[in-house]
Amino acid sequence: MSEKPKQQLFTTRLGVIAATVGSAVGLGNIWRFPYEAGVHGGGAFLVIYILFIFLLGVPVLCAEFALGRSTHMNVLGCFRQLKPRQPFWKIVGIIGVASGVMILSFYSVIAGWTLEYFFVALRGDVTGHTTAELHSMFSEFTTGWRPVMWTVLFLLVNYCVIVRGVQKGVEKAANILTPALMVLLAVFCINSLTMSGAADGLAFLFKPDFSQITPAVVIGAMGQAFFSLSLGLGCMLTYASYFPDETPLVRSAAVTVVLDILTALMAGMLIFPVVFTYGFSPQEGPTLVFEVLPAIFTQISGGALWAPLFFFMLFLASLTSTISMSEIGIAWLTQDRGVSRGKACAVIIAIAMVCGVACALSFSYWAGMSLPGIGEINIFNIFDYTSSNILLPLGGMLISIFAGWMLDRNVLRRELTTPVTAFAVLAPAIVFLLRYVCPVMILVIFVANL
Ligand code: PHE
Repeated sequence: MSEKPKQQLFTTRLGVIAATVGSAVGLGNIWRFPYEAGVHGGGAFLVIYILFIFLLGVPVLCAEFALGRSTHMNVLGCFRQLKPRQPFWKIVGIIGVASGVMILSFYSVIAGWTLEYFFVALRGDVTGHTTAELHSMFSEFTTGWRPVMWTVLFLLVNYCVIVRGVQKGVEKAANILTPALMVLLAVFCINSLTMSGAADGLAFLFKPDFSQITPAVVIGAMGQAFFSLSLGLGCMLTYASYFPDETPLVRSAAVTVVLDILTALMAGMLIFPVVFTYGFSPQEGPTLVFEVLPAIFTQISGGALWAPLFFFMLFLASLTSTISMSEIGIAWLTQDRGVSRGKACAVIIAIAMVCGVACALSFSYWAGMSLPGIGEINIFNIFDYTSSNILLPLGGMLISIFAGWMLDRNVLRRELTTPVTAFAVLAPAIVFLLRYVCPVMILVIFVANL
């Protein structure tokens, strides 16, 4: 097999943006951001998260773009092509493929919850409940067997899309979706801001109490920055390998980052006013958003109609993200291992299904499971924490070292400034951050956390 198989590319500029934004914007913004911010003290978490987005997220995103577009290769092939005599860099690819499948597993559980709520909402059953009822409704659902069914179903839907290939599946799905979701979020946000708990909710989210900052908050915010931008696992690198050469990288990165932050902020402004109006606990964790959203639909006029629409959009937004995490492994299997696309998709989805079912069971039959000598084991939490807070930042650190120090500096500059746009002025700053800030900062946070 030749080293550079004929590469399929995204066909339009809108397709490029829609695909990367579609990957970035998803449950990470609407489900994970509010629950992480809630657990980690609100405003203090938000400030550190945004700081990390700019100091770590933007440069690593640009680096992944540059590596992917310059080689048009998958996350393992890319490093092999650039440094054929340094097999060490394979590790980035291995971390990437592994964490892609790990995230796909637990993410599909949450995406499955959105499917359940979509159908409940269609029956008109999401609205009109008290806070206590919402709580018991949700825990009844998660402790039963239906989440397992939804996880499997969601992965099957994901399979049907990815098997059709990059242009047909990924690009089309992403083109309409993200803008529509953002409009809906904005509408709900305005509604939340009229609630009696709006002031408390906004204060919780936007007034940082710096005494709240602990190592756990810092590592959580760093993990969220990487997770939310789909960074550190070669997901954006793989997508960039499908970019046509005339894609402006820094501008595309800027658009992705701005829309990603905006979606997270809107989700926060949507959720926290309701949390304080209805007396939910912000510290609730992964289940927070699913208990709070129905309260919103009960309150909003025409909520019974909005609810199914919203959960359906959330499901689609999850899908554009899971498509991108599946693609990391698929690109590697098809390009490097000569596996057919159909088989590659089947392998990735099958592994994710086994792990995903284990994650779904963490809320029900396997809740509180413990192993002798180790203590309590929650597979969902282990998958979420290990991938987001450890593997992604580790991958991001290696990618920044590679782009900043191993890659020919002229190659990196050229990638970041071709074609020239107004954003090209940022290139020197990005190179500086990649060389001196990202690796050191991530390392320091890791060490401090030990
Ligand atoms: N960024 C996605 C989200 O916010 C999640 C994701 C993580 C996607 C890693 C791809 C890779 O929902």
